[in-house]
Amino acid sequence: MNAGQYFDEEPETASKPHPVEVSLPDVALTLTADRGVFSADHLDAGTKLLLLETPPLTATDQRILDVGCGWGPIACVAALRAPNAHIWAVDTNQRARALTRANAESIGAADRITVAAPDEVDPDVRFDRILSNPPIRIGKTALHDLLVFWLDRLTPTGRAHLVVQKHLGSDSLAAWLDRQHYPVERLTSRAGFRILELGARP
Ligand SMILES: C[S@@+](CC[C@H](N)C(=O)[O-])C[C@H]1O[C@@H](n2cnc3c(N)ncnc32)[C@H](O)[C@@H]1O
Repeated sequence: MNAGQYFDEEPETASKPHPVEVSLPDVALTLTADRGVFSADHLDAGTKLLLLETPPLTATDQRILDVGCGWGPIACVAALRAPNAHIWAVDTNQRARALTRANAESIGAADRITVAAPDEVDPDVRFDRILSNPPIRIGKTALHDLLVFWLDRLTPTGRAHLVVQKHLGSDSLAAWLDRQHYPVERLTSRAGFRILELGARP
């Protein structure tokens, strides 16, 4: 990015949409990304690890949430892997939301991916699965507030999977979540990333 932050609501960087490949053992997609959004040139390594290592989506994962969808790789892959599920993809960056909408349409899943700003999501919806490469760089307090806001909308048996870079504090985040009474497990750790699995707090 030339200016601003990937989480700016309205990126100032001039738009220049371009194709990006999402290449996984079970899914190969060409989606569109743009300047002014997270990992605009390629599928982020942490996101790829999340998509490779997260326990498979099952028939019980009917309502799936992607927190901080960026250009939509997690939401789009989830839609293809769980063809009967509905996916909510939320982001504060309006360019990211527009890209995710376009990408959802390009894979024929626009009717199953609701792309929204965080405050546009129906407060009564509960999620069976949350998948996220969360915006660590918004700062600790904002990140904590964001995670609690969405994790408290897991169903009682729901699970969340987050990928966090180790040097950006994955283990201290896990410890903090544990102190907030979320059941948390440290799953895979590879190439500088950690995947955390969380359940609903009692
Ligand atoms: C690390 S990026 C991940 C993007 C995308 N999921 C991916 O894997 O490429 C985190 C995203 O969270 C978004 N974000 C920042 N603050 C947010 C908030 N309060 N609520 C929702 N999304 C937010 C950013 O705009 C960014 O797109």
